[in-house]
Amino acid sequence: MPTPDLQTVAIDLADRSYNIAIRGSLFDNPLSYAELPKSASALIVTNTTVGPLYAERLQRALASRFSQIYTVVLPDGEEFKTWPSLNLIFDALLTHGCDRKTTLFALGGGVVGDMTGFAAASYMRGVPFVQVPTTLLAQVDSSVGGKTAINHPLGKNMIGAFYQPLKVVCDLNTLKTLPQRELSAGLAEVIKYGPIADMEFLAWIEANLEALLAREPAALAHAVKRSCEIKAWVVGQDERESGLRAILNFGHTFGHAIEAGLGFGVWLHGEALGCGMVMAAQLSARLGMVDAFFVNRLTQLIVKAGLPTRAPVLPGPDNAGRYLDLMRVDKKSEAGEIRFVLIDKPGRALVRSAPDAVVRQVIDACCAE
Ligand code: NAD
Ligand code: GLY
Repeated sequence: MPTPDLQTVAIDLADRSYNIAIRGSLFDNPLSYAELPKSASALIVTNTTVGPLYAERLQRALASRFSQIYTVVLPDGEEFKTWPSLNLIFDALLTHGCDRKTTLFALGGGVVGDMTGFAAASYMRGVPFVQVPTTLLAQVDSSVGGKTAINHPLGKNMIGAFYQPLKVVCDLNTLKTLPQRELSAGLAEVIKYGPIADMEFLAWIEANLEALLAREPAALAHAVKRSCEIKAWVVGQDERESGLRAILNFGHTFGHAIEAGLGFGVWLHGEALGCGMVMAAQLSARLGMVDAFFVNRLTQLIVKAGLPTRAPVLPGPDNAGRYLDLMRVDKKSEAGEIRFVLIDKPGRALVRSAPDAVVRQVIDACCAE
């Protein structure tokens, strides 16, 4: 099978602009880092799963640019996206005497990327960092756009910063070692871009789903590139989410409630998002914005991608009430009112509130018996 050519997507943010490079055999190639400013030291942040697979090769690729390259290995899992893990990064930076020019490299999925970005944003009030995403989810979404965060037991991604990387290196070959469940989770974020921005892309995903699930390089390359293009278009207009960027959270309000309600790490973020998109589409339909055909089309695609579409019943006596309480702890909420990203018409999203009674109907209809 021919290897796809190098693709580049630009994130246009004035003096914080950068490129996303997409291809196989990139992360372990010194040329991928040739334009980075030289400095004395670098810190690779990775985890116990990705580190043994790829950290040494990244270290070799960086050897000509940095005289000291350190590595810190975090515990693996969404449940470790916490202060103690973040502190392990600061411990490593301080123990090794890292300075303001030390460059951090996030080698891993969205959890490593979000924590490394937050550490880079706050160590000495800001040091450079590079995203080397190794999950599909991280390549199509989390490594791009500068949102960094850790979780709090009361809410997901509630503590963080906007902080852009110097570069994003998406090496499609790293996806070869990704478990199938994680590939499906990444497809949730790919699918997301269709209903909110590009129904032609949704049709392309429908037509190429088998190729994507089989990890055909050309299909993955297109999915990553188009996803990054759409994200770049949104972030370029609204870096700090004062408006438009919120549409990237389609499915996330319900999804975050599932993640927090079950305990972080029980459902994968992409799984919760897949189910959350079905719930948000159903809410859009109940509010008269889209029809049942659209909801069914999206639901079928999410099922075929290997993602759950029935929401879990959360512990406690009032399931819908628990969802509502959890959804109030959301960065889009205003004065305690939940605001949802809904589909106005296929390919276009907006943010609005909805009556609790209607939201309860959606939760009741979507929750597993
Ligand atoms: P993850 O980082 O937990 O990675 C998933 C699993 O795959 C982990 O066990 C990881 O160790 C493993 N893994 C990673 N790369 C691998 C590889 N190449 N081969 C084998 N195993 C590999 O999860 P994720 O789905 O990448 O990211 C989810 C996180 O991203 C969530 O915390 C979510 O909140 C965040 N997120 C952030 C943004 C943003 O804009 N910053 C956007 C979307 C999601
Ligand atoms: N993943 C949502 C955002 O980057 O805004």
